Amino acid sequence: MSKNNSKRDILVTNALPYANGHLHLGHILEHIQSDIWVRFQRLQDNNCTYICGEDAHGTSIMLKAEEEGISPEELIKQVRVSHEEDFKAFNISHNNYHTTHSEENRYYSETIFKRLKEEGLIEEKEIEQLYDTEKGLFLSDRYVKGTCPSCKSENQYGDNCEVCGSAYSAVDLIDPLSVITKTTPKLKKSTHLFFKLSVLKEEIKNWLKSAQVVPQAINKLSEWTESEIKDWDISRDAPYFGFEIPEYENKFFYVWLDAPIGYLASHKNYLDKLKKPEDFNYYWNSDSTAELYHFIGKDIMYFHTLFFPAMLLKSNFRQPNGVFIHGFLTVDGEKMSKSRGTFILAKTYHEILDPEYLRFYFAAKLGTGIDDIDLNLEDFQQRTNSDLVGKFINIGSRTANFINKDFNNKLSGTLHEESLIKEFIDRGSDISEAYEKREFSKAIREIMDLADKANQYIDKMEPWNLIKEEKNKELVQSICTTSLNLFRLLTIMLNPVIPDLCSRIYSFLKVDEPAWNEMDKLLTSHEIDIYKPLLIRIEKEQIENIILRSKEV
Ligand code: MSP
Ligand code: ZN
Repeated sequence: MSKNNSKRDILVTNALPYANGHLHLGHILEHIQSDIWVRFQRLQDNNCTYICGEDAHGTSIMLKAEEEGISPEELIKQVRVSHEEDFKAFNISHNNYHTTHSEENRYYSETIFKRLKEEGLIEEKEIEQLYDTEKGLFLSDRYVKGTCPSCKSENQYGDNCEVCGSAYSAVDLIDPLSVITKTTPKLKKSTHLFFKLSVLKEEIKNWLKSAQVVPQAINKLSEWTESEIKDWDISRDAPYFGFEIPEYENKFFYVWLDAPIGYLASHKNYLDKLKKPEDFNYYWNSDSTAELYHFIGKDIMYFHTLFFPAMLLKSNFRQPNGVFIHGFLTVDGEKMSKSRGTFILAKTYHEILDPEYLRFYFAAKLGTGIDDIDLNLEDFQQRTNSDLVGKFINIGSRTANFINKDFNNKLSGTLHEESLIKEFIDRGSDISEAYEKREFSKAIREIMDLADKANQYIDKMEPWNLIKEEKNKELVQSICTTSLNLFRLLTIMLNPVIPDLCSRIYSFLKVDEPAWNEMDKLLTSHEIDIYKPLLIRIEKEQIENIILRSKEV
């Protein structure tokens, strides 16, 4: 921890994936986005901790485990292994990966609940809900279907109608049926605990004003903050897989109460492993000067910009500095679909293709907006082949051979066109600003523009012709040395995006991974390794295989 010097202390989280199924490329989009930002911060020599974990509670996990004939504990253990494998394959550099089904999370959930209760912000109310008598279970909105009370469309979920878009409560559905047993549920009363969000409206709005949340999202949220904010039901009746609420027998915390608290739990677990438990307060006390950012998808922004900040505020913890919201991934312009083979699991992708291609492609598309992001498979193949392989890697591959063959792997002592090198280094600050602001598509555009310049320089110099005459030998060495220095500079700039490929390049250049501010440590009179192909083009069949395999799973 720095506390006493100029390094920023930054804590970054991803939404905790539900522990009930495999990760798909939509999840991966979010992790790639945050991982790029985290890696950028670390290369800036900031102190950036990146945490995540499993969201292990709730009805869907309980029912899924039942379906598979295993305990929820066993299910979440299995799913965790699969999630961690996928994150590793995509080079996601979480410092810690924990779970909400943990003692740390129980502790902070109970602590926050108790503090809210002491503040008079927890209220008991009796409510009526749909109850599946055969299953012995209160039905959440996703587990009832019926006819829409507004437009009379059949087969609609208990929260809103996909046909006319109207929102209603499940008890208003006409002819409701339990999704689980297909029986007609009965109305049943039960006492629930509510977090009195309604009285916190002004405080929530104030926080939103000061936080880094893009205006596009604030507009969406204002529909909610400008109308009446309802109290939030934070309890669920048994049977439920989660934490039992202290002093309320058979009542459990609603999964969305303890899920974001999982961020605190994962961080605490990490600090305990580091044997630095005392740092927890530095990061989480209400007066903390450390920075906290959550990367999430637009479907869960209410929880992260309204409910969670309110919980933190009233339980005397710090609030986030920013919530970075991204849109949804579409494939070939449409929602991912199993039948079209575009519901692509992370595993399907990384078993066939190098994750670096996708990291690069997503970076080239990501900005700060909440609009959906499309993975157009044809464009993906063309763009990564032409930009990543054809432009970037090409700079190394077309000049390294001369150094290897004609100069015994040795770079020259002087550079040929220093002004070009200087231009690259100067552009570094714009690119770094783009990364900082999460304008990755802008950063990639600028970097590719520089890659074009490097290739134009090589085209103009034609080292392959010059080398034919002995008298040009020294010149060729310095041209190729200049080119490989440009290649190194571009590698530093792309390092947050394609870390694995960059580390292969650094070992070819025989250098340790440089920090961002080490751009000007140029390589002269330096020995490099023999060039081996660093990345090959994506073949059409590989894309076709991904689609084929996605139809099977
Ligand atoms: N468990 C909750 C989050 C709790 S955070 C305290 C959850 N899990 S999730 O597995 O459904 O989603 C995890 C993240 O992936 C969310 O940020 C969600 O928006 C994101 N995505 C899920 N599907 C997505 C796409 N198709 N595209 C982009 N992101 C998507 O929500
Ligand atoms: Zn309707």
